Amino acid sequence: MRPVYLDNAATSFPKPPQVVQAVTHYMTDIGSSINRGGYSRAYSTAETVLETRERLCGLFGFSKARNVIFTANVTYALNFLLKGCLRPGDHVLTGPLEHNAVIRPLVQLQEQGITFDRIPLLPTGEPDLQVVKEMIRPNTRMMALSHASNVSGQILPLQALGRLCREHGIFFVVDAAQTAGTVPIHMEEMEIDGLAFTGHKGLLGPQGIGGFLVTDDLATQMRPLIAGGTGSFSHRGTMPDSLPDRFEAGTPNLPGIFGLHAALDFLSTTGLKAIRSHEVALTSILEEGLWEHPALQLVGPRDSQCKTGVTSINFLGRDNAEIARQLESQWGIMTRCGLHCAPDAHRMLGTYPQGTVRFSFGWYNTEGEARFARNAILSMVS
Ligand code: ALA
Repeated sequence: MRPVYLDNAATSFPKPPQVVQAVTHYMTDIGSSINRGGYSRAYSTAETVLETRERLCGLFGFSKARNVIFTANVTYALNFLLKGCLRPGDHVLTGPLEHNAVIRPLVQLQEQGITFDRIPLLPTGEPDLQVVKEMIRPNTRMMALSHASNVSGQILPLQALGRLCREHGIFFVVDAAQTAGTVPIHMEEMEIDGLAFTGHKGLLGPQGIGGFLVTDDLATQMRPLIAGGTGSFSHRGTMPDSLPDRFEAGTPNLPGIFGLHAALDFLSTTGLKAIRSHEVALTSILEEGLWEHPALQLVGPRDSQCKTGVTSINFLGRDNAEIARQLESQWGIMTRCGLHCAPDAHRMLGTYPQGTVRFSFGWYNTEGEARFARNAILSMVS
């Protein structure tokens, strides 16, 4: 039985061969750190790191390569942005479909006197901008939400929310975990102040590398949560003021950055448009006829254009974990079931506490695999 990997929303697999080669090349032939060694190899490594920041700027419509900060993943990036900026007394608006990477830091921050509210969505899945406007308080300092739900794939309209934030002097922070590399994002046009990403999902890079892009306005309001060596301003007992060093203490994940560097090149050659249409096509094939099936509850937008390459299904009257297990044992299909670290999303979608079985596509999936998964689903409920 040939395995069919449909868990790309958790982490993409496989990776482009260039990514694997770049990680191996770094580890076999380079191996030096940056900002530390006084030799040419260390300088050329630093150039690749800077070029990776530039490539991220190119992908995300941003112009300040030094304002691209590397972290281990999107969760760390969000913790940096939220905990670095928010102060006692601040109020935050967040989304109704959030992952715990946004909700758990906000819940922790409640202990410091920071409050938050979830903006509602209209039945169309769009935020009701009038209601959102009414939720803004004098102490609302930030809106922080996911670009797309990891459960339903629903994509939120960032531009309208960004404009609203800018008009009210609120920082706009976006969790792009589910969209970076597959859905277009333009930080400047969408008026985003902080964009958190991870390298190992749609960007097709290795695990362990992520980060955030941050405007000067937001960066100057942020405390560096982690302090340590940066290889710069070493005489000072405090973190440097300049970016990226202010938020990058310690030796970075260089194999990860080299892999991401190659992955970004692969994405720009392949083109986001092609990637996006591929995922939309596969999702449409998988879902054909499933929405009407009486034994299945599909959640989120029915129109594949309005979501990422994700299909979430509650198998009515069945144990979704058992379904996921059978999908693998009988068909070789790998999925993720349960609450997907996003209980709020499941509450809102009416699939709490049982959760769903999530099928998520990536660049390397084929139309044949989408049809195969659809047949497997139908045969399990026939
Ligand atoms: N947040 C990732 C997922 O949705 C891990 O599976």
